Amino acid sequence: MIQNIKISTFVIKRSLKMFCILTGVAVITWSFSYTKHSRSQLVNLNVLPGKLKEFIYLLGTLGRRLNGALGRRLSGSHLLSLDIADNHDIPIIFIITPTYYRLVQKAELTRMANTLRLVKQLHWIIVEDFEVINLKTQELFQSTGLSFTYFAQTKRNTTKNHIKGADQRNAALDLIMANHNPSIPAVIYFADDDNTYSLEIFEQMRYTKKLSMWPVGLSGGRTYETPIIKDGKVIKFLAWKSETRKFPIDMAGFALNAKVLWTYNPMRFSTDADSGMLETKLLEKCCAVEEIEPLADNCSKVLVWHTRTQKPQVRIFDNSLEV
Ligand code: UGA
Ligand code: MN
Repeated sequence: MIQNIKISTFVIKRSLKMFCILTGVAVITWSFSYTKHSRSQLVNLNVLPGKLKEFIYLLGTLGRRLNGALGRRLSGSHLLSLDIADNHDIPIIFIITPTYYRLVQKAELTRMANTLRLVKQLHWIIVEDFEVINLKTQELFQSTGLSFTYFAQTKRNTTKNHIKGADQRNAALDLIMANHNPSIPAVIYFADDDNTYSLEIFEQMRYTKKLSMWPVGLSGGRTYETPIIKDGKVIKFLAWKSETRKFPIDMAGFALNAKVLWTYNPMRFSTDADSGMLETKLLEKCCAVEEIEPLADNCSKVLVWHTRTQKPQVRIFDNSLEV
């Protein structure tokens, strides 16, 4: 009797062990085949629970990105391609855009490219928040005909978690300093990939002497945030935390003349700033409130919007087409 119980316990333990090993091997093989052949529909993702589907979808996408992209950190056409810009009599606009993988990334960048392609004498610097660039995304930029530089810069370990895009913007500023001749007139604008930009604002910011500003719609939990103007000068701000922030303005609400990079070197974003302090901490390095040049008809018009795209509620994951 005891003998029988011992034998069946042994058999159950053995079977459990075998079961675990086999399941492990199956899962590993499956993930590998999925990553390797992520373009073909090897696995029916739709039978899996939501979070797992999302994870596997991401795994497939990362596999695609790594495939062929490793070692090609810097790519795209470089700043030299400004030679092909149509008009050298007007200042260059450098647009700096940090971006990162999520389901809406391609849609956001397409929307933004469609705006930027209507602006002349512009160079778009897009910095992928990842180890490597995405060759498919690069193809998108190439297809726009825009003058652009696309490269990868990961978030540094020392950068605080709540800070988004700072290391990427700083890398873009390094790139400008290394490639641009400061005697050629240029302005810098930090344009996130999810905002909405009117064409008017680009033509106005182009002639920024040092620091220009304008209202930003749907920003800071208000209908808009804006500098308040009296006799053509900024006297205060209508904005979130305007008592404690010297320049209480969203990233989308100002442009800098590129020369400040050299005059106030190093002009870089802080990577340990408290929430909402990124913009003000940068601008405090170079400017005084009295120097602000108000645009958008003395800050009486909203020409940019801090729009935010809702995370899509995807129930059916299909990896055959790139979204
Ligand atoms: C607000 C400001 O508008 C941003 O300019 C500022 O960087 C951010 O807060 C902040 O202080 O952290 P918000 O809409 O909250 O923007 O931020 P996102 O639009 O999610 O991100 C800003 C930019 O960084 C976007 O272009 C986004 O693609 C990029 N990003 C975001 C990354 O590159 N990596 C990330 O992990 C997250
Ligand atoms: Mn945003």
